[in-house]
Amino acid sequence: MTGLKDKFERIIDYLRISITDRCSLRCIYCMPPEGLSLFEHKEILTYEEIIKIVRIASELGVRKVRITGGEPLVRKDVTLLTASIKKNQGIEDLSITTNGVLLERYAEELARSGVDRVNVSLDSLRPERYREITRGGDINVVLRGIEVARKAGLTPVKINMIPIRGLNDDEIKDFAGITLNSDYHVRFIEFMPFGTGGFWNSGKYIPCDEIKSIVETIGPLTPVRVRKNGPSKYFRLKNAQGVIGFISAITHHFCEDCNRLRLTSDGKLKPCLFSETEIDLKPALRGGASDDEIVRLLKLAIEVKPERHNINEKSDLNFLQSMSRIGG
Ligand code: GTP
Ligand code: 5AD
Ligand code: SF4
Repeated sequence: MTGLKDKFERIIDYLRISITDRCSLRCIYCMPPEGLSLFEHKEILTYEEIIKIVRIASELGVRKVRITGGEPLVRKDVTLLTASIKKNQGIEDLSITTNGVLLERYAEELARSGVDRVNVSLDSLRPERYREITRGGDINVVLRGIEVARKAGLTPVKINMIPIRGLNDDEIKDFAGITLNSDYHVRFIEFMPFGTGGFWNSGKYIPCDEIKSIVETIGPLTPVRVRKNGPSKYFRLKNAQGVIGFISAITHHFCEDCNRLRLTSDGKLKPCLFSETEIDLKPALRGGASDDEIVRLLKLAIEVKPERHNINEKSDLNFLQSMSRIGG
């Protein structure tokens, strides 16, 4: 099967699975200093439950799985999960989105377990500022982790940077410059109005067109065709080894190509990043439901997937859960 179609003829073949809401950092745009209230252990899906969902989803045509958090690498024995997911023949692309803190320790093990590639969140290249943004993180640990991941073959290694006005927007060119001499994918993500800790305001938001014009002061950007598998539009600076991506989550909709469902760590299917509607799989999983029942719930999530979001930089998304619970 090649993926289920939703009402808008989009093929849904990508599942993003948040395996924990815990994180080893406290990024100022993501959570308040004291962190967020966390799920209790028993509320979180077990690996067996997650594997069952992946097996059934793959029978429905899901081909791509991304493991997210919080920070997924803080959950114990994550490679037992990734190895088991990869053994499931249907999954062609298994990836992880991580803050990179534990990559140095786990990259090789992840690669051996069948993980294909990693995306790493990194919002500053300056040690002091990185520490400030993450409330205590050590950039050198992350930079070493990124390098170990590249050597372990978790490629392309994608670096996700959120430019925030007045905070790190003076580093846009430095980030773009990384691609000149190394084959990383550097992606700029529009800051989305997820309200945690009162950090967000629309003045901090920078549209991708503006980010792109700053990058273009280094030199012209040529569009690159990268195997289409996500919301990013890719370009290359002249003679650069790596590519630069722009994820314009707010200004330019990529909703018409959206191919994904999300699963939160407590077992809720989210049809869209911005959905308030959630379909709870846990009662079915723990109540002894048949595979058919899980299929029905997965199909229901696809059935109610909205055509597009109506978010703009004036939106107030305080009603939504933090990104650290949804997994980005
Ligand atoms: P690739 O397959 O590597 O392109 O992965 P990806 O870009 O889907 O995954 P990643 O976790 O690196 O996501 C990068 C960022 O894109 C996320 O943190 C979100 O901010 C944004 N993003 C991903 N999916 C969606 C989506 O469906 N809608 C919106 N609005 N933003 C999304
Ligand atoms: N806007 C855009 N991206 C965000 N992320 C976290 N919060 C936001 C936000 N408000 C990103 C992280 C990470 C991914 C999981 O989500 O930087 O790359
Ligand atoms: Fe952790 Fe990611 Fe949130 Fe930073 S953005 S606190 S790394 S979940």
